[in-house]
Amino acid sequence: MGIGHTRWATHGEPVDRNAHPHPSGDGRLALVHNGIIENYGPLKKELMSRGHVFDSDTDTEVLVHLLEDILKNEAVDLLEAVRLALTQVVGAYAIVVVDRDNPDHLIAARKGSPLVIGVGEDKGEYFIGSDASPIIEHTRNVIYINDFEIAEIANGELLIKTVDNEIKTPYVEHLELQLEMLEKAGYDHFMLKEIYEQPRSIRDSMRGRIYPKEGFMQLGGLKEYDEKLRHAQRIIIVACGTSWHAGLVGEYLIEEFARVPVGVEYASEFRYRNPIISEKDIVIAISQSGETADTIAAIELAKERGATILGICNVVGSTIPRMTDAGVYTHAGPEIGVVSTKAFTAQVTVLTLMALHMAHLRGKMAQTKFVELLNVLENIPKLVEETLGCDEATKYIAEEIKDATNAIFLGRGIGFPVALEGALKLKEISYIHAEGYPAAEMKHGPIALIDENMPVVVIATRNSSYEKVISNIQEVKARKGRIIAIVTKGDTAVKALADYTIEIPDADEAFLPLLATIPLQLLAYHTALLRGCNVDQPRNLAKSVTVE
Ligand code: AGP
Repeated sequence: MGIGHTRWATHGEPVDRNAHPHPSGDGRLALVHNGIIENYGPLKKELMSRGHVFDSDTDTEVLVHLLEDILKNEAVDLLEAVRLALTQVVGAYAIVVVDRDNPDHLIAARKGSPLVIGVGEDKGEYFIGSDASPIIEHTRNVIYINDFEIAEIANGELLIKTVDNEIKTPYVEHLELQLEMLEKAGYDHFMLKEIYEQPRSIRDSMRGRIYPKEGFMQLGGLKEYDEKLRHAQRIIIVACGTSWHAGLVGEYLIEEFARVPVGVEYASEFRYRNPIISEKDIVIAISQSGETADTIAAIELAKERGATILGICNVVGSTIPRMTDAGVYTHAGPEIGVVSTKAFTAQVTVLTLMALHMAHLRGKMAQTKFVELLNVLENIPKLVEETLGCDEATKYIAEEIKDATNAIFLGRGIGFPVALEGALKLKEISYIHAEGYPAAEMKHGPIALIDENMPVVVIATRNSSYEKVISNIQEVKARKGRIIAIVTKGDTAVKALADYTIEIPDADEAFLPLLATIPLQLLAYHTALLRGCNVDQPRNLAKSVTVE
């Protein structure tokens, strides 16, 4: 039996002294923890007044000393000590504790942070992790631990109960996840593999949902909520990071197709703002991992206020799908690279499906237009395949911008969220400071940043704002900015202005994000590689942000 943990620093620097597991003062217990103990300050003070000495700056160490204290002062066993300690703790946790004096005992517990137990083939064999991906090479039979549950493994037996002492029957789920889905399949990095998986992941996100030949579509997961969607008066999307950018694309599409007002909220702001939410509202929570703490908290708030909560998520069995009323899985497959790529285009695909579904339900789109868009959508994976052909071009341009310290990304209309996403990708893995802006916003300030050292990436494909974007490019050119333009195949006007162009196939404006994002993902990837950065695990970032 062993425990280990790759810590994400919240309290105290990422140094050995703060690394996990943390031992108790008497060395009997050892504990690992994912989450934040918010009231660790007063607990630590209390324990220090009782003679406890701390070696680290972490909140986690306070928890193991609290357990030690309870075991010393109460005649209880470790399971009961953990239960008592957790009734005193405020915050989020997934913890595992082992006991030197009972080497075949292990206790795990969860509130807020994810926890999964894998049931091994051999009797008494168990694997515990934050999600299923580290477990499936050993077993695909897993138990998802719920909030306020404690699991005890002793003498090969598993017991699960709540902090209120209620015994729970473990529910074992068999996962479809295959090990090879978690391997690089010959690519140098997970990020590159996941970029090249997008034709398949977009196709899988539509599979069994659109029937262009028969002229209809279905979203089985939302069936029971069709009436709510038909009469929706307002939609609020909550998400973080790349999922928030997907939400912005969803706003354009749902308002355009279904004519319902949509608001897109940063979940981390939404949860602390006193938002006006009622039971008439539909809240859509978007999350790749399904474990993002801020998005979970935003859902809890919206739920308290009676809203209907729909989810768009990529990880089956994760927390968000289990707390929403209904939802749609993105079927992008496991996304291992910290920077989200295929999950973004899968989220945009699902949002496009939801917008078309609502337009149809609400009679806001002629059947001919509806079927036409279903046909275009069905063909998108092929166009994405074609777009991946720009890989070499992005590698060449990356060579040109790798020494930049700043970059600006510009887009208009539905191209604006794409610009934001492109900037985020470059920031996350190459550490070049990059900002995305609505192209017309430039002259209200950011244009002051433009000079011959500033790479300016512009989404300039042929669509409703094409002419406007050309004049924005001329504004940048007049100030010697270096223009990298994403253009529609065969474009000449922008080509004449830009320093570098990357061509993508022509498609209906509504589907631009599914194509134009690809070259931006590749540009970030190659730039980061040329700068010697770790593209799969960039500094300071976690794949799933399970702490506030
Ligand atoms: C994107 O590349 C980042 N990994 C990050 O911004 C991410 O999108 C954000 O943390 C939200 O994660 P989620 O989709 O799993 O909720």
